[in-house]
Parts: sequence; structure tokens; C-alpha cells
Amino acid sequence: MRYLIFTDIHGNLESYLALHKLIQKKKIDHYIFLGDLVGYGASPNEIIQKVRALKPLSIIRGNHDKAVCGLDSVQTFNPIAASAIHWTADHIMKKNLDFLNRLKTGPQIINKEIMICHGAPFDEDHYIFGEFDAAEAFEHITTPICFFGHTHFPFVYTKKDPNADAVDGTFMTGNSNEVKIEKGIKYLINPGALGQPRDRSPLSACAIYDSKARKVNFYRMEYDIEEAQRKILKEGLPSPLAERLSLGI
Ligand SMILES: [Fe+2]
Repeated sequence: MRYLIFTDIHGNLESYLALHKLIQKKKIDHYIFLGDLVGYGASPNEIIQKVRALKPLSIIRGNHDKAVCGLDSVQTFNPIAASAIHWTADHIMKKNLDFLNRLKTGPQIINKEIMICHGAPFDEDHYIFGEFDAAEAFEHITTPICFFGHTHFPFVYTKKDPNADAVDGTFMTGNSNEVKIEKGIKYLINPGALGQPRDRSPLSACAIYDSKARKVNFYRMEYDIEEAQRKILKEGLPSPLAERLSLGI
């Protein structure tokens, strides 16, 4: 099976269109989305409809999806992110809001190989930044692979010895990185953000897990950043949300 793993689109329709081109070139059996369909970007309705049309095997909610629904307070958000939550709540169609409200909470076990979460398997809002967080996450991972999002950084953590705390982390910089999935090793993998990369590369990110070939490939894609920025500014969303897209921050 070939799984497309993507996360953190954040209402960025133009980044989705780049993904769509990749999908047309690759054979994908299942789509798995790790949360944050909305927030920051100017196209929340279009993104929800396009992702739903893919009929994903699983979608879980992110902290922005929750906040737009009023399931979580915006108090933990910085003022710019909070302002985008309010804008999204004002512009989202009822059927799309209902869809966000029904999204599952992570972690979810997809099958005997894969589990997913937005932030961390022990807390959907926790950021896994570094080996210390990853070591705690591995305590809660019951499958060989766990995919996560939320940090907007493509990253792979591995744990080779189930009885030790030692964890290795690798930043997946660049396009076409490949990670072999080996028996006996546990993997905690972030495909990077599709709609708002923060690793100083503005290129849209996603990954494909091929369970037969036992490998995960990471992709970075160019997209029409100027158009995404133009829409953000036209809607009166805070200008740093446009500027950050071309900086990859
Ligand atoms: Fe996010």
C-alpha cells in the first residue's frame, strides 16, 4: 500500500494544488491527514472540500481546527494566529464547520503498522521538538510507525532499543529524501507542513509511505506562493501571515 501523509495545510489552496500535481504522478492507495486544515490561510472552505474529496482513510483534528469550532480557546494562540482563527470562524460555511466539529482526536491507530497524532501521542497539542519529547512520545506508540504534525518541520525520530531511552532525530532537509523502514526499529515521522513550512524552505511538504517497499519518501514542492499571499492580504488577514510563506518561517 502507498499512503500519502500530509498535514498542516492551514487554508492554503495553492499549496494543495501542488499536492494535487504530485498525486497525479504517484500511485496513492490511501490518504492520511494529520490535522490543521484551517487557520492562517485564506481558503478554509476550499481546502476542507478538496481534502474531503480525496476520501482519506483517516483525518484527525489539529489545534486550529479545534479553535475555529470553539472547542478550544484562542488564549494559547499568539495574536496573529488568534486573529486568523476569528477570521476563519467568520468565513467558514456551516457544513464545513460541522465537518471540523466531527473530526477525530488523535492519536488514532490506523492498522497494525501505523498510528497518527497531530502533536504527540500523549497530548494532541504538544509539540515534539527534539529527542526528549520524542522519547516520551515513543512510550505511547504501540505500532512500528507513528506519523505526527504540528511543528511544521519534516523530521524523523528513531528508537532502536525498546528498553533504552536513546532516540535519534534527523531533520529531513530537501526533496526526495528516503527513509528505509527496518524491522525492530520504531519510527516517529513528521512529513513537514503542506501549507505553512517553517524550516526556512518555503516549499510545500508531504511524504509517501510505501508499506511494501518499506520506505518513506519526503517531497518538497514549489507552489504559487504569490497567489496565496495575495489572497491573505485581500481578505485583510495579518500581513505577516503572507510574508512568512515566502520565507518558510
Ligand atoms: Fe499547524
